[in-house]
Amino acid sequence: MTDEHLWRFSGLDLDDVGRREALCTLGNGYFATRGAAPEAVRDDVHYPGTYVAGCYDRRTAEVAGQEVTNESMVNLPNWLPLTFRFDDGAWFDLRRFSLVEHEVELDLEHALLRRRCRFRDDAGRTTSLLQRRIVHMGLPHLAALETTLIPEDHASTITFRSGLDGRVRNSGVARYEEVERPHLTGFDARELSPDTVLLSARSAQSRISVAEAARTRVRLDGRELSPLRTVIAEEDLIAHEFAVTAGPGQHVQVEKVVALHTSRDAAISEPAAESAELCAEAADFDALLRSHRAAWARSWRTFHFDVRGSAEIRRSVRLHVFHLIQTISPNTADLDVGVPARGLHGEAYRGHVFWDELFVLPVLTLRAPDESRALLMYRYRRLHQARRTARLAGSTGAMFPWQSGSNGREESQALHLNPRSRHWSPDHTSLQRHIGIAIAHNTWRYYQSTADEAFLNDFGAELILDTTRFLAGLARYDPARDRYVVEGVVGPDEYHTAYPGAATPGINNNAYTNVMLAWLCRTASTVLDMLSAHRRRELTTELGLHSTDIDHWDRLSRKLFVPFRNGIPDQFEGYSELAELDWRGYRDHYGDIRRLDRILEAEGDDPNRYQASKQADVLMLFYLLSAEELRDVLDRLGYPFPPHRIPETIEHYLRRTSHGSTLSAVVHAWVLARANRHQAWEHFHRALDSDVHDTQGGSTSEGIHLAAMTGTIDLLQRCFAGIDARDGALHLNPCWPQELGELKLELLYRGHPLSITVTGRTAVVRVGLSSVRTEFSCACGGREALLRGGSAVRFSLEHGVPARTDVSHTP
Ligand code: BGC
Repeated sequence: MTDEHLWRFSGLDLDDVGRREALCTLGNGYFATRGAAPEAVRDDVHYPGTYVAGCYDRRTAEVAGQEVTNESMVNLPNWLPLTFRFDDGAWFDLRRFSLVEHEVELDLEHALLRRRCRFRDDAGRTTSLLQRRIVHMGLPHLAALETTLIPEDHASTITFRSGLDGRVRNSGVARYEEVERPHLTGFDARELSPDTVLLSARSAQSRISVAEAARTRVRLDGRELSPLRTVIAEEDLIAHEFAVTAGPGQHVQVEKVVALHTSRDAAISEPAAESAELCAEAADFDALLRSHRAAWARSWRTFHFDVRGSAEIRRSVRLHVFHLIQTISPNTADLDVGVPARGLHGEAYRGHVFWDELFVLPVLTLRAPDESRALLMYRYRRLHQARRTARLAGSTGAMFPWQSGSNGREESQALHLNPRSRHWSPDHTSLQRHIGIAIAHNTWRYYQSTADEAFLNDFGAELILDTTRFLAGLARYDPARDRYVVEGVVGPDEYHTAYPGAATPGINNNAYTNVMLAWLCRTASTVLDMLSAHRRRELTTELGLHSTDIDHWDRLSRKLFVPFRNGIPDQFEGYSELAELDWRGYRDHYGDIRRLDRILEAEGDDPNRYQASKQADVLMLFYLLSAEELRDVLDRLGYPFPPHRIPETIEHYLRRTSHGSTLSAVVHAWVLARANRHQAWEHFHRALDSDVHDTQGGSTSEGIHLAAMTGTIDLLQRCFAGIDARDGALHLNPCWPQELGELKLELLYRGHPLSITVTGRTAVVRVGLSSVRTEFSCACGGREALLRGGSAVRFSLEHGVPARTDVSHTP
């Protein structure tokens, strides 16, 4: 195993426990458990958390004189608890005992968390502790923890306690504390057999049943023991206690295997019976580890992504891919879930699903298209809810929520707390109607990468068409301009939710929203034309789409208004009339001004007053559309946008952005990649560091930033290597940084397995011998090669133009 697969956390830094717990989370796409120590309970330092994808619960609380309901991904009973004491000494507590050595090691290759520790207890006895933990990738309802204790200089009776703890709360995010209410109720704690206990519960409002069964076995120097056990049972906790006597150098090994089910699972009768049965028949730790490793070897093959460069870069890239696989894996495909913004690693944003899949799907689709399809199906299944929301808003079509959870209704919080000022203010970020554009864009991209006609025909087209219908309905004709305008929205930059002093929220003509809507209107028509006449008739009848709608979309694609100021797209109408912020003054005064919105609000000021953005907004256009696509859309709209305006636009917004979202660094690295490599490199590093160094100051402990993590991979693949599936071809436009040596990756494009190597401005594509008989087109710098199973092509660009193209075919 190479070092890039190992993340070591040495010593015990109490201030850093939260970040380590999040980064050491183990998961399998079905559930994940934070890397909390097994003896830890929730306190001011530790936060054990176990989350099953898609297990949400709503609770209502009164805050600031208002009733607010929030839906949260529920923190389920902690399955880790395993603690011990020597003779009559105190229970194991690293804060009380004296620490000789402590190291936690996350082994990415095998998805194994190891802990090595030596300590001296209050009676001066020295003991070694070794722990290994997995959350099984191949058997997604199983997890296991192995603990080995070696008394070094003493003979003691060691009492162990191993159990399941339902006394958990959703209290991982301090600023939600006031609105959080207990989610688990209806506990049932039982001993199932001399070595197994069971804890069941259900979520208060959504009534999801959950059951965990834990089997604990003990060995002394490899010999299985059957110590007498006492059951400790409280309403919401159950554990076994037993004692083992061991002398210096002896190995006492306690193995805990846990099965977890919820009533959302497929192919089960009920969670308690399933967990009991699975736990009873589960293999021992070593055998589970073997099958777990085999499952991970498969995942790593699928996500083969080999970059050179510094050890730090390689380790971070690997960590990012690792957490993506842990959040979304083949186990996710059957679950009916979306992309949780903070992974299954913590409680920030309550496990909600935003537009973040925009940064995740490009990486996923070209490797695990079934997983992307499942994530799109999460949206498709919530079309009826999106239609209901649109209808209630007096519109037609489908209005997807900015934050989505269980059933697809809007889950954005109504009020948010500024932790700096402790003020509660209304939250209008749910006016981000561009969420629908993201969903449609993802659907179209998925089709471009997979050519999955069946999906487009049965589901994708409907998603795109009904989303377009809603968004097109937002546009109002403004005769004075002879243009269509879109009013009362919020763009990706969430600092601007209203005009200064305005009574109603929302801003008008967000450039990103309007340009992307123009793109969508055209794409929707293309999709409609691609359907068979029969399906087109069927769908247009079902949706009530008329030729007048299609004509309207065509008009919008030519006549949507986009505000410009001095040749640069204005973020929204009136943005450039807002006050300029004294950036230097604020930086000097506050140092870190990423959350400028909170700073200004705490000062009694308002971010709406300034030309100051939280994250890339206009620049998102360059992230989502290729230069040619963007030029086409703008040309059609009648807004010529000469190439020299691109760097000017980037520079304009770069100076006015506080990077309050981790997504901002990804997008800025992207847009700068070809114009200012030095700055791009800085932003790339910033994106790589977001969670690794917790650059947002405490937010990683509340969960990883999955979109920023995956965004760094997308950046390497789609931006630096220029590998992009669009317009029916696989495009390559390598501009690979020298610092990163050579890139080797494996992709699946339209059923063809590809091995791609990129260095500098050269790319080599080798097509595996797949069962797909069709040819596909691979394009680079205006040249095109037709490839099939066994073909290879080498493209070389000099100054952006093709220097050579060599194609070979193996018969
Ligand atoms: C960003 C959004 C993002 C959300 C979840 C927010 O801070 O502004 O763009 O979707 O986090 O990651």
